[in-house]
Amino acid sequence: MVKFAKLSYDGKSVEFPLVEGTEDELAIDIKSLRAATNLITLDPGFKNTGSCQSAITFLDGEKGVLRYRGYDIEDLAKNADFLEVAFLLIFGELPTSEQLDKFLVDIKEESYIDEDLKKILESFPSAAHPMGVLSSLTSALTAFNPKTFDVESEDEMYRAIVRIMGKLPVLVAWVFRKKSGLPLKYGDYALGYVENIARMMFRKPNKEYVANPIIDQALNKLLILHAEHEQNCSTSTVRIVGSSHAGLFASVAAGISALWGPLHGGANQAVVEMLEDIRKDGGDIDKYMIKAKDKSDPFRLMGFGHRVYKNFDPRARIIKKAANEVLENLGIVDPVLEIAKKLEQAALNDPYFADRKLYPNVDFYSGIIYRAMGISTETFTVMFALGRLPGWIAQWREMRLNKEPIGRPRQIYVGQNQRPFVPLNKR
Ligand code: CMC
Repeated sequence: MVKFAKLSYDGKSVEFPLVEGTEDELAIDIKSLRAATNLITLDPGFKNTGSCQSAITFLDGEKGVLRYRGYDIEDLAKNADFLEVAFLLIFGELPTSEQLDKFLVDIKEESYIDEDLKKILESFPSAAHPMGVLSSLTSALTAFNPKTFDVESEDEMYRAIVRIMGKLPVLVAWVFRKKSGLPLKYGDYALGYVENIARMMFRKPNKEYVANPIIDQALNKLLILHAEHEQNCSTSTVRIVGSSHAGLFASVAAGISALWGPLHGGANQAVVEMLEDIRKDGGDIDKYMIKAKDKSDPFRLMGFGHRVYKNFDPRARIIKKAANEVLENLGIVDPVLEIAKKLEQAALNDPYFADRKLYPNVDFYSGIIYRAMGISTETFTVMFALGRLPGWIAQWREMRLNKEPIGRPRQIYVGQNQRPFVPLNKR
């Protein structure tokens, strides 16, 4: 049965069909709104706007549910390998072992960077933020791989996908190594996708690299937890840039820039910096709780709150448990972990946070794990970008295969009415 929503306006009554998702979510299809009424909708921040129909991720923010292609995030984080999850997100099903082997080989064949790109990386000042450098280098990849620009066929899309899946980890490792003053090196073709990333990042020039399974497993879990999160700021950016047929690398570069901000992926850096500030300031949790609630104070409790989750972010639960395990297994005592736990407890018991349904999000504990692995604070969001890559690719591919139109919102103009030009000597 087709359902409708009725809008009464200017003496007329217009009906709009409802669209129903596979999890019973409903939306009003307003495609004909302007033609029928001359009205548009106004929704700053897109708090109530669905931009597409997508079969990739289901998220129930009220219940704290997150599923990739129907699989619970808890199940995937516990049992899957990041590359399997990447395949699942991009192509819709978990791979067979033959499909997974082929995907890995195709990616490895592309795991190199044009030597001239190294020159661009080397010319950045050492103080440059790794996210700015990563975004620039990802954008520059298009110049070295022009065939990835306006892909049309599924085969061309696949080539662009394995290229970026192969090249981005190299860029991430090199951005990290440059920041750490380490020589730029390639990985080992024989290793798995995640194990190779760890090797590329952590290999020291003066000794044999020995893989640490605790680090490999933690990295695998974090990358899975970051892999996809439906129409967030960076993913919407990737879809909208891709909707102009700008190409996968350019779309991902734009996604990296969107992710950089502290209200989005940059929160993992901001959380650890906040926890460090609290520690240096004597660890006075109450003082920072007061600041977070004071509307005249710009301070916010970083790593808390979410546009969609009005319940626990399921990823935060998994990451908190992993943070405890990783630090214990690596024998690391990090005072900021204790501050984080106290801050979380204080916020969960505070009516300000309870009333606004503000819970810890994915970024609250992730930086503590990255720090225990030896990753510098400014590089945390680069790791988030690496994890989010399959999600961005999946959304870009879905958008292109669905032949979605170019993204182009409207506006309500509130500026000056028409007026004549005033010459310079009359102003
Ligand atoms: N600390 C203190 N107050 C907060 C916080 C916070 N972290 N987050 C939201 N609020 C308050 C906000 O002031 C507002 O209060 P009031 O109703 O009295 O005006 C209310 O809660 C609703 O907040 P909002 O800013 O309207 O909510 P939003 O959906 O526009 O923003 C958010 C969501 C994630 C940007 C915001 O919660 C925030 O800034 N959190 C801190 C940054 C952060 O951790 N970001 C990572 C998000 S999850 C990972 C990702 O996206 O990559």
